[in-house]
Amino acid sequence: SGSSGVVRVYRGGFAHSTRDSALLVLTDCVLGVNARGRIAFCEEGHNVESLSRQWGFEMSDVVQLGPHEFFMPGMVDTHIHASQYTYSGTHLDLPLLDWLNIYTFPVESRYEDLDFAKDAYTKVVKRTLRNGTTTACYFATIHTEASLLLGDITDDFGQRALIGKVCMDRNPLVPEYKELTNECKKETDRFITELLRKKFALVKPIVTPRFAMSCSSALLSNLGKTARNNDLHIQSHISENKEEVQFVKALFPECKSYTDVYAKHGLLTSKTVMAHGCHLTDEELETFHEKGAALSHCPNSNISLISGLLNVRNVLNHKVKLGLGTDVAGGYSSSMLDAIRKAVDTSKALCIQDAQLQPLSYKEAFRLATLGGSEVLSLDDCLGNFEVEKDFDALRVNVCVPGSPIDVFPGDDLEVLLEKFLNLGDDRNIVEVYVAGKRVVPFPDSK
Ligand code: GUN
Ligand code: ZN
Repeated sequence: SGSSGVVRVYRGGFAHSTRDSALLVLTDCVLGVNARGRIAFCEEGHNVESLSRQWGFEMSDVVQLGPHEFFMPGMVDTHIHASQYTYSGTHLDLPLLDWLNIYTFPVESRYEDLDFAKDAYTKVVKRTLRNGTTTACYFATIHTEASLLLGDITDDFGQRALIGKVCMDRNPLVPEYKELTNECKKETDRFITELLRKKFALVKPIVTPRFAMSCSSALLSNLGKTARNNDLHIQSHISENKEEVQFVKALFPECKSYTDVYAKHGLLTSKTVMAHGCHLTDEELETFHEKGAALSHCPNSNISLISGLLNVRNVLNHKVKLGLGTDVAGGYSSSMLDAIRKAVDTSKALCIQDAQLQPLSYKEAFRLATLGGSEVLSLDDCLGNFEVEKDFDALRVNVCVPGSPIDVFPGDDLEVLLEKFLNLGDDRNIVEVYVAGKRVVPFPDSK
């Protein structure tokens, strides 16, 4: 106590998730941010005077939120293809494997051109930040230089990010979009070394085999070793589409399941996040739980590409770490608010088939988009909610901005305002975004 260094203090409504509760609503809370961008205290509002003596801030410096405002934790997009943002909202008429060959691989080939990459990557980082994504787990493309550029751009805008240079040495239908196995290993090492050398505080590399279908066994083993030797995160896709699952079984006959392919190659660790998992068996989910590996649920993509409906309740019952992803551009929306809504809708659609199933509540979906995402990326010790000593990654939401898509009525309390924002709100309601204590939205005039 007495130690100062509190640089900003906010008072008003706060909503977040904790270990015990999917939604904790604090109608009058006072939160201090220190010089390192971390939460110094988060207490009942009536304690503000004693806190000001303890921490040495002026009462006149306390920022009071309006009656229709609140802070919530920044959202974590656990799966997004930055390189596919150029066509988001289009190309949604083919199933996964055709969609990859006909639309995706030809576009991703264009990222050899750094001007093309800079324009696309700047736009996706700005769009996701405005939409409240404070942390993004990105797929780039096979190109090292453009992937490093995505790292520079996320750092420049102050977004927290894991960046994956995509690895693939198998591509029978679009052979010009792949690498030789050795070239892929070498370029992956170079990408990791060069991104780490930049010493970005919030931007780190993630080992990214695209998926089992596009990687040889030799490449998968090598990437597993690279992740292990450098203690790195790993991301890929798993059991998204039934045809894909059959292909993987045929390509890896020695493995007893899709999950087993990744496990056997050292790619299923406590720092692994696998997208989709719609068609995983209970046995495979048990393996995920044992390994501490995580799933990213991307409901927009799963519906848009007619891939499958993930049974979120079953995943949660297996105690597998779970977050939400937009999967731009298999998913057409770059907003995590859309992922929250589609996760609830998907769960309700499954409940139509099975009346015994308990639907996902909006509170649970809120948790998946924030604290759940931080657990998926093993970053829950430093973000995900408003616990003291965590980084202040936060959205200042105002449900009554000019042109707001939300109407407020007498008696609407903070919990109602949050629920309306999650279901009806958009970037107009996200008036400020903070990452590690720094305000990153609105963008500075220079951007
Ligand atoms: N599986 C392998 N690559 C991809 C991709 O780019 N998008 C989706 N949705 N699934 C994949
Ligand atoms: Zn994906």
